[in-house]
Amino acid sequence: MSLTIDPGVILESRDLTKRFGGLVAVNKANIKVWRNKMTLIIGPNGAGKTTFVNLCTGVLRPDEGRILFDPYGKGVAIDITDKPSHERFRLGMARTFQIPQPFLSLTVLDNVLISLRNRGENPFYAPFKKLWGREEEENIEKAFKILKDVGLDKYWDLEAKSLGAGQLKMLELARALATGAKLIILDEPIGGTDPAYANDIFKQIRRLRETTDLSFLIIEHRIDIAIPFVDYVYAMDRGRVIAEGDPNSVINNPQVIEVYIG
Ligand SMILES: Nc1ncnc2c1ncn2[C@@H]1O[C@H](COP(=O)(O)OP(=O)(O)OP(=O)(O)O)[C@@H](O)[C@H]1O
Ligand SMILES: [Mg+2]
Repeated sequence: MSLTIDPGVILESRDLTKRFGGLVAVNKANIKVWRNKMTLIIGPNGAGKTTFVNLCTGVLRPDEGRILFDPYGKGVAIDITDKPSHERFRLGMARTFQIPQPFLSLTVLDNVLISLRNRGENPFYAPFKKLWGREEEENIEKAFKILKDVGLDKYWDLEAKSLGAGQLKMLELARALATGAKLIILDEPIGGTDPAYANDIFKQIRRLRETTDLSFLIIEHRIDIAIPFVDYVYAMDRGRVIAEGDPNSVINNPQVIEVYIG
């Protein structure tokens, strides 16, 4: 298979298929995650959205198809289908979990610092440990910048456990940013948050997409909130992509309306 990829695409699945026994959870899915855009996958319960994400991140292996990744827009992709999760992570793919899992008794700042340090603790850098003191100062500066980007800078010295549900989601996003990721995968970023904060979260993500070179793949149930912010939408049903395109065309697609209402 050719590894040539549209430079405007950061991640692409080609005929991706995953079966669980007789059930085809993901069925020949061709999905492109656009570079420096917000790509949204919608679909009813059991459509295969989380399975698709798990295939992309390496939690699951597909039965058929390939997954290509081009973190720097070279137009030549890396075939990551058989690469372990940590390798995908190292290449620049980070996922935030449906349930945020920060270190609750550490401060907001420390949570981000841990992610930054993990990046620095690449064995490649080990010989340069002497630089650690200066590096740590730079890390603190970087951590504050990231916290500012996600709107949490004023809470930097609070323990993570005192944050609200929506703020915890933003902290999770901050930690993903701190890993140096190019592609951020968010599975239900606004789950469990009230509508006002849910809108804020999408506003923040939108701002990040406009002010950085990050790309976002988002799974979200609450499409009324997500749709105004995203650039491109895929609708899935029973493992298949049933519609794709700009947000309004997809939510007005008769087949999409049918799977949501019918
Ligand atoms: N590990 C597994 N073993 C067996 N079946 C599974 C497994 N994971 C998912 N499935 C099934 O695969 C189908 C797709 O599930 P998936 O979790 O990907 O859907 P989803 O679109 O994320 O749904 P939701 O909106 O409820 O999160 C479902 O029928 C589900 O029951
Ligand atoms: Mg799911």
